[in-house]
Amino acid sequence: MNKETFYLTTPIYYPSDKLHIGHSYCTVAADTLARYKRLRGYDVRFLTGSDEHGQKIERIADSMGVTPKEYVDNIVSGIKELWKTLDISYDRFIRTTDDDHVAAVKKIFKKLYDKGDIYKSEYEGWYCTPCETFFTEHQLVDGKCPDCGRTVEKVKEESYFFRLSKYQDRLIKHIEDNPDFIQPASRRTEMLSNFLIPGLDDLCVSRTSFKWGIPVDFDTKHVIYVWLDALTNYITALGYGSNDDSLFKKYWPANVHIVGKEIVRFHSIIWPAMLMALDIELPKQIFGHGWLVIDGGKMSKSKGNVVDPKVLIDRYGIDAVRYFLLREISFGQDGNFTNEALIQRINSDLANDLGNLVSRTVGMIDRYFGGKLPLEHMSTEFDADLKSVAISTVESFEGFMDKMFFSDALSALWTLIRRTNKYIDETQPWILAKNDEDKPKLAGALYNVAESIRVVSIMLQPFMPKTPEIIQKQLNISDSKIIEWDTIRTWGLLPKDIKVEKNTALFPRIDIKKELVELENAIKAAQNETIVSKEKQKEENNEDDSDEIKEITIDDFAKVHLVTGEVIASESVKGSKKLLKNTVKVGDNVRTILSGIAKYYTPEEMVGKKVVIVENLAPRKMMGETSCGMILCAADKNGKLSLITDDKQFESGCDVR
Ligand code: ME8
Ligand code: MG
Repeated sequence: MNKETFYLTTPIYYPSDKLHIGHSYCTVAADTLARYKRLRGYDVRFLTGSDEHGQKIERIADSMGVTPKEYVDNIVSGIKELWKTLDISYDRFIRTTDDDHVAAVKKIFKKLYDKGDIYKSEYEGWYCTPCETFFTEHQLVDGKCPDCGRTVEKVKEESYFFRLSKYQDRLIKHIEDNPDFIQPASRRTEMLSNFLIPGLDDLCVSRTSFKWGIPVDFDTKHVIYVWLDALTNYITALGYGSNDDSLFKKYWPANVHIVGKEIVRFHSIIWPAMLMALDIELPKQIFGHGWLVIDGGKMSKSKGNVVDPKVLIDRYGIDAVRYFLLREISFGQDGNFTNEALIQRINSDLANDLGNLVSRTVGMIDRYFGGKLPLEHMSTEFDADLKSVAISTVESFEGFMDKMFFSDALSALWTLIRRTNKYIDETQPWILAKNDEDKPKLAGALYNVAESIRVVSIMLQPFMPKTPEIIQKQLNISDSKIIEWDTIRTWGLLPKDIKVEKNTALFPRIDIKKELVELENAIKAAQNETIVSKEKQKEENNEDDSDEIKEITIDDFAKVHLVTGEVIASESVKGSKKLLKNTVKVGDNVRTILSGIAKYYTPEEMVGKKVVIVENLAPRKMMGETSCGMILCAADKNGKLSLITDDKQFESGCDVR
């Protein structure tokens, strides 16, 4: 049987040491869609990954004294771990440092160059490194990045350009002819009126002022612009440009690229123009979802307001976290994240509506029938309505899922859950249980409730990787004939004499007052870890809001305690090409100091050197080792380092003034 294919992607993430719940949002949504399509019988391919090149990464790695590759390797394993914890069912995790991707990107660049769609010129303008985006003077807002508000840098260098302007008219036509191409509709309007209609400039697609990128192989002082590199992942991951492009033939064009709203522009303008230039069919849809916001601001690392998904998962489990993200916020719109809303959803929707339904049903079958329903059932006057709500829920649920209206789909499903709870109140099993002649009626009523739970458990599957199976276990159903997707269209498939197994509550009720305090503390504790490491990073990057060197007072200077020391031992650091681990004698004390100087000094050369160190620098962890202090070096304009050492022999432990 040849199944219809469905190819969906998330953005590839910038390696960041703390992925927050906002990042998880996009991936959880994509995973839910992937699971849903699989259940509906599609041959699904689900891609995610990491976007590892660019100036931003190079700078962070530099400041940490490791190579960019060492830095990203370390972080990408953390990203993969988080996706594993959240049970993200991707088929490939592409890294833009993967060999197959690198080779294909070089080919693509060359192909566009040969075709004349990439040409060499000079770029003069502004660059926002955190966003990895070029801006013209008039695009800046108060001289800052229009996207993130941070300081931009002037760039003037020889560059290759992509003829984006050439594709403007074709793009406008494509977007106008295909209303589904950019979704939701508001983003489509925004792209047309803010970018396409005013006109597109050609795009700078190479840089020469740093190294961490895929080189242009016919002009190696250039590295390829990180967005051009990144966007192609959607096809290189399928083998486009390699010896085996069978996956590309099978799955392309993508059915949907799911992306955050701030990067819709790259996906709906630059990416399709590149594909047009390569004569490749365009993806069917770009879906731009909204942001998770906290008190009106985007949750982001630089704002220090991030919520670590691990904190939430540890406390409530992945199913509750995934449910909350997709239920609370309309996909496509921004949504406020609050701890109260999260706990309230868990209590009302999960513990009360769903959890109670399952536990009271299983409990009653256990209590009234010893865990197994008798074969003789009688109907009640409430059956017809329950059945009809169940059938119509399936239809509306599927309709919403097909449009990625996840919140509406869940809301429809909860209509059925609540209707089922109401059915219990209407049929009053506890009254029926009092008379022996009502037993068939009691059995019939409990059967209907169990049947409804069966249907609910199947529809829950795209959202919750764990709970549906736990529910099905309690109802003792594992036969695929009654848990496959299409079985939800038929009422009454459960065996009449089903057996149940009591188990613990699916979602225990939370004491909201107490939990709010504890949760807040846990989130803060996780944030503080981030803030501390962020400040260190700033220090290391010498990041400041202005470009000028700030004057400091003598008191400021006095805070920095400089002393002389002697290196008495030195060794390389496992996993790092840059770092040396030095043992430094300072007066009568000995301390460990890591320095990023392995390129310029061997461990043997280090031993015996008299050096100047910053004595009171807070300890920092690098590559699993703690460094106490910093050895001062002179850095020339190429970044070559020379130790600041003595002219006349100095003792270790002297003040430096
Ligand atoms: O943009 N709420 O990577 P990224 C919702 N590497 N979504 C959020 C969010 C929030 N608070 N914060 C981040 C990049 N995201 C590029 C993509 S694709 C070829 C290259 C989402 O790590 C964000 O909208 O900055 C984006 O879709 C995703 O996380 C990755 O962001
Ligand atoms: Mg971003």
